[in-house]
Amino acid sequence: MKKITAVITAVGKYVPDFVLTNTMLEKMVDTNDDWITSRTGIKERRILKEEGKGTSYMAIKAAKQLLEKKNLDPKEIDLVIVSTATPDMQAASTAVYTATQIGATNAFGFDLEAACSSFLYGMSVASSYIESGRYKKVLLIGADKCSSMIDYTDRATCIIFGDGAGAVLFEPNEEGLGLQDEILKSDGVGRDFLQVKAGGSLHRITKEAIDKGEQFVFQDGKTVFKNAVFNMADVTVKILERNNLTNQDLNWLAAHQANKRIVDATANRISLESSKVMMNIEKYGNTTSATIPLLLADYEKQIKKGDNIIFASFGGGFTWGAIYYKWGYNS
Ligand code: UT7
Repeated sequence: MKKITAVITAVGKYVPDFVLTNTMLEKMVDTNDDWITSRTGIKERRILKEEGKGTSYMAIKAAKQLLEKKNLDPKEIDLVIVSTATPDMQAASTAVYTATQIGATNAFGFDLEAACSSFLYGMSVASSYIESGRYKKVLLIGADKCSSMIDYTDRATCIIFGDGAGAVLFEPNEEGLGLQDEILKSDGVGRDFLQVKAGGSLHRITKEAIDKGEQFVFQDGKTVFKNAVFNMADVTVKILERNNLTNQDLNWLAAHQANKRIVDATANRISLESSKVMMNIEKYGNTTSATIPLLLADYEKQIKKGDNIIFASFGGGFTWGAIYYKWGYNS
């Protein structure tokens, strides 16, 4: 019997219509377009403005686009995973609601939370289910409404984050395509440097907490930046070495879009030319779990069957990793 690998067979995306530009941010906080562009690479980001719409709204839209493109009956889906750091609400899974809303009535669902590495970890989980032979169609969605946890008077964070969603379908493959290898890491020392303090089980949302702004993201950007640059490059080098790959064998680097300088540092470490580095941070900012599937959606037409891709991420927690992947189709 041939070995079963897990391959992505379709991609979908959704970003909200509202565009928050650097020029608009200049009027909200003490910042400027030059600083934001040179320090992060971001020009604009999308914000889900409408009241009563959460992360599931975008996850559903991305999933529906995928279903339409693939002409897939949602009843065939076995499992829906929503990778997110901003679920609609606590205790009620965003994935379960999403599955029901898209008509995936035969699927079970759960959320996966690992900050900016949620989607990368989700790729590992989805692939493992497929490789086991237990499930045939796993829908993995990366979706985050980062604006729901941003203080728009804090220039350290409000310039970075945006909202969006991307979806991919994992299916079995017998040609050896799809996920080849992974290095996934985490280190709990990181939670002091990137967190939303109030609203979890450790600190309730009280009036005092709100007065201190503890319902918003806090980030010690410099420390996160240093760790991101070192660790994302480190796992990227290690996974290439372990698979006897050079930069010449690599077609694409699909790295989490937190800061263009972090992605560039990883690409430089392996001397990869910029044409092989997927980049869309200028349009969307850091959408946490959505950056990698949004890259795939934006680059789908350029990626060819058999292309070697390194996926990489670094995020809160700390969480990070790299995946070596062979693309499965021409579109
Ligand atoms: O996705 C998950 C993980 N997150 C990340 O990977 C983000 C990692 N961190 C970063 O991307 C960067 O650290 C930031 C973009 C957040 C900040 O960039 P930086 O180059 O590390 O800037 P900095 O914090 O060292 O600040 C440099 C200067 C400071 O002024 P002084 O002390 O040199 O006079 C800041 O006060 O820039 C100032 N500054 C700003 N100026 C204009 C900080 N934020 C801003 C701003 N606009 N928005």
